[in-house]
Amino acid sequence: MTEPDDELIEKKGVSRRNFMKGAVAGAVVGAVVVAGVEEGVRIPGLPKSAATTVTSTKTVTTTVTGTGTGTGTGTGTGTGTGTSTTPTGPVTSKVVTLTVNGNPQTLLVQANWSLLEVLREKLNLFSVHDGCSLGECGACTIMMDGMGINSCQILAIEAEGHQITTLEGISDYGNNLDPVQKAFIANQAEGCGYCTPGQIMQARALLNAIPKPTTAQIRTAMGGNLCICGVYNRILTAVASVGGSS
Ligand code: FES
Ligand code: FES
Repeated sequence: MTEPDDELIEKKGVSRRNFMKGAVAGAVVGAVVVAGVEEGVRIPGLPKSAATTVTSTKTVTTTVTGTGTGTGTGTGTGTGTGTSTTPTGPVTSKVVTLTVNGNPQTLLVQANWSLLEVLREKLNLFSVHDGCSLGECGACTIMMDGMGINSCQILAIEAEGHQITTLEGISDYGNNLDPVQKAFIANQAEGCGYCTPGQIMQARALLNAIPKPTTAQIRTAMGGNLCICGVYNRILTAVASVGGSS
């Protein structure tokens, strides 16, 4: 027996079999309009209010596989921004201004040059003698900011900004001898003379700090200035005479 609903479906050209196909298809894709069912056609078993749509929560997973090859060429242009950094590393040379005997001297020095090398080899201040280059003999003694130092033990680049004084500086380059120089001459406080400039500079620094040093102070202050000729007693007498302590 044909149900009224079935008749209605048959009239519309949608058989039950076809309907079922359409219903399955609709269930697969989810919320869809049932295939071939026009608006107003009621589906059997469903209330009229739901006659036109079927919903489903069923999901279908479809996997597609394939292979392919391709070739291509292309050109392009581009712009960009960036930052650069200045290479860092050890400083090998530097322009320094040394104040030597009251005169500013600007020169390029290697970073490993000692003040002794620069004074003697670059500025031709030959009173600065190199005895050991180890800070042991005192032959290279000069004054830096009034203090006696071994110029072989300081880099030239470290002396920038300081007052450097050599024997030439305290004697107006030989035109006006310092009292210590005169005392050395008067007391024959020299043998070969190699240590003498350093001795005089150390004595000058001592007398600047202590105008009237004691014998003990002179011995202590001059202790770093060696003399192979061994004229230590004459040196002591000469320095003491300048300070009036002899
Ligand atoms: S050369 Fe500087 S202490 Fe000897
Ligand atoms: S006078 Fe010759 S080393 Fe001192």
